[in-house]
Amino acid sequence: MPNFKKKLSSLSLIWVAFIVLLFFFSFAIHNILILPSWLFLFYLSGKIFRIRREFKNNVSRWNNFLMIQEFIINNGLYKETSDVFLSAVFTISESENEIIITACKMGNFLDSKLEHLDLELSALFNLPLEEKIIRPVIVEYKFIIEPPERLVLKSSSKETIDDLEINLGYGVKYNPVTCPHILVAGGTGSGKSVFISFLILELLKRGSTIYIADPKNSDLGSLSYYLGDERVATNPNNIARIIRLAVTEMYERYSEMREKFKYGTNFNDHGYKTIWLIFDEMGAFLASGTDKNSKAVVNEVMDGIKQIILLGRQAGVFVLISAQQMSANTLNTDLRDNLGLRIALGQNSNEGYRMVFGSATPEPQPIEIKGSGFLFKQGAGKETAQYWESPFLDTHQFDFINELKLYIDKE
Ligand SMILES: Nc1ncnc2c1ncn2[C@@H]1O[C@H](COP(=O)(O)OP(=O)(O)OP(=O)(O)O)[C@@H](O)[C@H]1O
Ligand SMILES: [Mg+2]
Repeated sequence: MPNFKKKLSSLSLIWVAFIVLLFFFSFAIHNILILPSWLFLFYLSGKIFRIRREFKNNVSRWNNFLMIQEFIINNGLYKETSDVFLSAVFTISESENEIIITACKMGNFLDSKLEHLDLELSALFNLPLEEKIIRPVIVEYKFIIEPPERLVLKSSSKETIDDLEINLGYGVKYNPVTCPHILVAGGTGSGKSVFISFLILELLKRGSTIYIADPKNSDLGSLSYYLGDERVATNPNNIARIIRLAVTEMYERYSEMREKFKYGTNFNDHGYKTIWLIFDEMGAFLASGTDKNSKAVVNEVMDGIKQIILLGRQAGVFVLISAQQMSANTLNTDLRDNLGLRIALGQNSNEGYRMVFGSATPEPQPIEIKGSGFLFKQGAGKETAQYWESPFLDTHQFDFINELKLYIDKE
């Protein structure tokens, strides 16, 4: 470090002296010398700039080194005996928007401690943990310096969008073809209905056919006035009817696509738009199966949903399931793992996260912002669910029903 400082100050001194000389004696310098003088000044400025940048990087590396050294001592991540000294080893890599701390496992008693430093490292850098990856020989902790931006819902004029990809905000893009079906879980008031309403608008902009099952007959059920009773169901028999419609359409698409068979194509290549079955509060529906008849309806509905989850992607038929509380009874884990996008809004228990994310369960952290939670998108290269904030709704600025009316042809 002192070497750097010496070099920098002597170069800066030459730079200042040269500028002063050039300023006072430019009139006396021969014309031929003016251009080389300026070129030399530019060269000197570039050199000083490069050295300053290198110096800053070295200072930050040095600071990080001291910080980690203190962290190791404060957290007892070392052991000293008369003949051995054992210490945890960390590497830090820092880019513009993230810091990655890698803890190296070395097959000793420290390894298990290195897997549980979430809170301590978060406090050290004063940043929320974005992701933790545990591998046999390392543990990687990722911290985001600049959090991504939350989407804010804004009124717009009617628009039609060809692209199937939907921007969910906070750096997440969603495409049902690559990541079919959605699960939204979260306790009451966590923001499921707000998020689903946003999605309904995005789907309508893309020409989707939407079926809604709302066994609690709440927010989404009241959309029957706009979308029609044909598409919105609130009692078990009607729910069974719309599921039958969606399943039938799925098989019809398959048989038409088979007639015009072309290897590797999907609904989009055959000119079909997506069909979405939005099932709000599946737990409430399952609870309605109390006697023999209602149990038969529940079984039929669950069987239809299972077929859509397993076969729907290529035909463009998708489900979105929402539940206040997920359990193995709501949806077994095999089916759950086939829902490509999984979201848990609001504060959830460890067990609650496990029911939604399975092996991608994140380390829980306090969820304070309305409509925020964790999101896991299959195939996105992340091993655990990430913190995410759903699109922000300001009811003074955005009227869902007015927006919806833009996309409904109601006589
Ligand atoms: N994305 C958001 N932006 C702004 N406010 C939100 C957002 N999400 C939720 N809220 C606030 O929280 C309230 C409850 O949200 P919402 O009705 O979506 O919860 P829910 O999960 O559907 O609850 P329930 O399970 O009881 O139906 C909203 O009325 C709104 O005030
Ligand atoms: Mg709701």
